[in-house]
Amino acid sequence: MSGRILIACATKYGSTYEIAEFMGDELKKTGLSADVYAAKDVNDVSGYNIIVIGSPVYAGKWLPEVTNMVKRNLAVLKEKKVAVFSAGISVKDDTPENRDKLKEASEEALREIKPVLEGFFAGKMTYRELSLPHKIIVKAVKAPEGDFRNWRKIRDWTLSLAEYL
Ligand SMILES: Cc1cc2nc3c(=O)[nH]c(=O)nc-3n(C[C@H](O)[C@H](O)[C@H](O)COP(=O)(O)O)c2cc1C
Repeated sequence: MSGRILIACATKYGSTYEIAEFMGDELKKTGLSADVYAAKDVNDVSGYNIIVIGSPVYAGKWLPEVTNMVKRNLAVLKEKKVAVFSAGISVKDDTPENRDKLKEASEEALREIKPVLEGFFAGKMTYRELSLPHKIIVKAVKAPEGDFRNWRKIRDWTLSLAEYL
């Protein structure tokens, strides 16, 4: 089995990028080649067999850096195997309804792409790390605070990427 995997990811407070780095490390442990980049820096995906695209969800949407990265690379991405993941607080309780909420967040970016695999991961929210406007929003909606990332689940999903190489 051989092949190169790119993980392109955006983040506001770092926790989704930590997921991307964890994915890269787990893939490397199995002997696969994996590169992790900030989505804003990704301009050429042609050398990769699988491109993993990830974003946290803010106000029901993927971050614009990720949507723009998809637009910039659309012609090549359409010819490649693409896997996507979203991180958000709404899948703290992992129900089909809550997954649907995260799935909607990527719809605009993925209009012309059919991912081979989609992941929905609970994220992390620490009130004291947030900007004041964000703190006001999350307190108003009483969003849960904590690190809800389930590393075992993320690892299982990541290792299942090897099936698509
Ligand atoms: C202002 C704000 C809005 C958010 N909106 C959503 C949302 O619509 N859906 C969701 O599931 N999570 C939402 N979240 C939670 C983030 O997606 C979650 O904390 C994520 O793990 C943060 O990732 P990051 O550290 O990579 O920025 C929101 C968080 C903040 C601060």
